[in-house]
Amino acid sequence: MKKNLIVFGTRPEAIKMAPLVNEFKKNAEFFDTRVCVTAQHREMLDQVLDFFGIVPDYDLDLMKPNQNLYSLTADIILNLQEVLEDFKPDYVYVHGDTTTTMAASIAAFYSGAQICHVEAGLRTHNKRAPFPEEINRQITGRIADYHFAPTEASRENLLKENVSPETIVVTGNTVIDALMDSSKRVETIENEEIAKLKTLVNPNAKLILVTGHRRENHGDGFIRICEALREIAITHTDVQIIYPVHLNPNVKKPVYELLSGIDNIKLIDPLAYPAFVWLMNQSYMIITDSGGVQEEAPSLGKPVLVMRDTTERPEAVKAGTVILVGTNRDLIVRETKSLLQDHKRYEIMSGLHNPYGDGKASEKIVKFFLNER
Ligand code: UD1
Ligand code: UDP
Repeated sequence: MKKNLIVFGTRPEAIKMAPLVNEFKKNAEFFDTRVCVTAQHREMLDQVLDFFGIVPDYDLDLMKPNQNLYSLTADIILNLQEVLEDFKPDYVYVHGDTTTTMAASIAAFYSGAQICHVEAGLRTHNKRAPFPEEINRQITGRIADYHFAPTEASRENLLKENVSPETIVVTGNTVIDALMDSSKRVETIENEEIAKLKTLVNPNAKLILVTGHRRENHGDGFIRICEALREIAITHTDVQIIYPVHLNPNVKKPVYELLSGIDNIKLIDPLAYPAFVWLMNQSYMIITDSGGVQEEAPSLGKPVLVMRDTTERPEAVKAGTVILVGTNRDLIVRETKSLLQDHKRYEIMSGLHNPYGDGKASEKIVKFFLNER
């Protein structure tokens, strides 16, 4: 029996690895699968674990308030040593591009395990944007033995870096697995958070959902973002902005300072995944710098303004459902107004596109390893 260790630490990794954990658990006669969370995030990670019913076998509990990249990286590598020596996995699975991803890949390499990279091959080719994620995923791509690429374009990126074609599998993105499962469940489950949101959402207004957290936007970027949101809210009283604010103090502080007290802007705590999926479904459009939301929104037919200068997810931009606006205050305002007023443009952008998979990415990954046995 092969031993799998699935390692993750932040909210988006948890959402995107949960379907894989559950798929491996369905095949327990073939794989001994354990979950290790670094808890690079704490509350935002626990929200996801609760919803998907995942109880970690190892919890490194590393998050510190306003943590920095140096100590987080060192802590992950040092603390994983014990787990790797205890469980001795054959395969270690990491996801995407966080500090957990990069540091866990290095630790797994030291242990002699094979490294499996889920959501492999995304690139901007700009090492400072997104920072530090572009370098995290390049390092992980260099170390990994197996690359599960969500799209053909991500496979091409890996081939250009001389990754052996037989180690790359195009699977779609596991985020669609999670979204399909959750969209169905939110219709039927009793959920206090959704009940509360129903009282917050103004049914007579167009809902703009906002999220943001990227490090390269900290400081001036977030100030310009908040100024744009303030102008949109003040000049469009028929619009309601709901913004679940990321817990990173570099985000929370400016956002609450600059946007509190405006009637049609509601600042709320991060939502658990089902409530966020419900709210995405209610929205007219989404403004975000998130990677995952860029992938989910096209599946739900929601136009997205992406507050970044460059994206490693060109598929939705090409399909026309996503527009890059950077943190340019005027551009954010202009594109939002255009989508609010130009119904034809809105209809075209919201026509359903899903370039990121069929909801079977996790199944494809597990099948690959069933055939490898
Ligand atoms: C991290 C990832 C980023 C990912 C993002 C998803 C790195 C370097 N960054 O960014 O790639 O896109 O998560 O959200 O890996 N905090 C809490 N509670 C939580 C989560 C965060 O209080 O549940 C606060 C803490 O003060 C923490 C800080 O946010 O120190 C920053 O967390 P960190 O994981 O270092 O960076 P993020 O900006 O969340
Ligand atoms: N999300 C959530 N609650 C929120 C905001 C986002 O569950 O309040 C989900 C969202 O659906 C997506 C993921 O979190 O799947 C994106 O996380 P984030 O933007 O923090 O990270 P990124 O995807 O940019 O790495």
